[in-house]
Amino acid sequence: MKSSSTHQVSFANTDLSIKIDCGDTLLGGILRAGIGVPYECNAGGCGSCKYKLVQGIVADDLEDTAGLRVSDKRKNKHLACISRPQSDCVVDFKLDPQYTPKNIPGNTPATLHSFEKLTHDLWEFRFDSVGPAHFLPGQYAKISLPDVHGPRSYSMSNVANDEGKWLFQIKKVVGGAVSEVLFKDSLKNLNITIDAPYSIAHLKSESQRQAICIAGGSGLAPMVSILHGITQLEHVKPDPILYYGARNCRDVVDKSYFNTISGFRPDDQYIPVVSEPAQSDNWAGATGMVHDFLKTQLEDAVCDYEYYLAGPPPMVDAVRRHLVLERGVPVEQLHYDRFF
Ligand SMILES: Cc1cc2nc3c(=O)[nH]c(=O)nc-3n(C[C@H](O)[C@H](O)[C@H](O)COP(=O)(O)OP(=O)(O)OC[C@H]3O[C@@H](n4cnc5c(N)ncnc54)[C@H](O)[C@@H]3O)c2cc1C
Ligand code: FES
Repeated sequence: MKSSSTHQVSFANTDLSIKIDCGDTLLGGILRAGIGVPYECNAGGCGSCKYKLVQGIVADDLEDTAGLRVSDKRKNKHLACISRPQSDCVVDFKLDPQYTPKNIPGNTPATLHSFEKLTHDLWEFRFDSVGPAHFLPGQYAKISLPDVHGPRSYSMSNVANDEGKWLFQIKKVVGGAVSEVLFKDSLKNLNITIDAPYSIAHLKSESQRQAICIAGGSGLAPMVSILHGITQLEHVKPDPILYYGARNCRDVVDKSYFNTISGFRPDDQYIPVVSEPAQSDNWAGATGMVHDFLKTQLEDAVCDYEYYLAGPPPMVDAVRRHLVLERGVPVEQLHYDRFF
């Protein structure tokens, strides 16, 4: 008997039923069908995409993940971003229209064009695809490399374009499988697959508020994309501010990099904050953790801004706690991706 190339996935307590390609994740298949369900990291780390498997068989890419507790597993709960249906399934999932994709995610082959070293361990890579690069400022892709098991999430640092140009700022991870491949000076013509776009933490083009962008480490990429995106909008209040948390001075991206953002004045609008400056660095800028520094900067009009955040989960969570719980900023004005 010929095996089916799709599986039927039905949503419990609804009339909704979709077909998902064999081999695709449940989350990927649902979003490709234009349906919104909660998610964030797409990597098994945050737990946002948890669902209950009511009927059928799924295979999970990872056995132990931060996003799923042992008690969840006992209740037959799984994470949609790492579950791959192996048969027709019934799933119990909370639908949420705010996650309905504005651009349907799809797979695009792309080839390495060039790279630029932003710091000793943060490089910006340009990949070119044959088709257009369609995404919203601040969104991310899942990238698959030949010979590396599983995709990795990386945010685009440019904006959508018809030429098929994709820029990613990638931080070297010690022992990281993708890092090991990419951080070689001699790398040429690497072919990858880009599955994009993902994330609801994109530039809110309908908002007229001034933007405050807060990034830690490689969280800079989506903020740069958002800053480029703001320059294409006429009604947004000008002068977005970018706070950038770095561990030491050699992790700070030079302000000249930001000259490519039209109208952006790095001297006034780019504020690097170094948590562990060495005495020999003679660092004259802001010091401390970026979330603590931010507390000293925001004045009474704290609710007048749109906040965009990306980077290490502890940094993002600390900023969220401060803004929402201590300062009363409406959650709708915070847009974040935690890099698990
Ligand atoms: C939404 C989102 C957006 C992101 N955007 C960016 C971005 O723009 N730029 C960026 O640089 N990063 C980004 N990240 C983070 C990035 O996806 C991860 O750091 C990714 O894991 C790096 O891939 P890698 O192959 O280099 O490392 P991995 O191979 O995934 O390794 C990650 C860690 O796991 C350890 N490890 C790996 N294999 C094993 C093993 N078998 N046993 C034990 N430990 C192991 C490694 O030593 C390393 O510490 C993002 C993450 C998310 C969720
Ligand atoms: S665990 Fe699935 S989206 Fe984060």
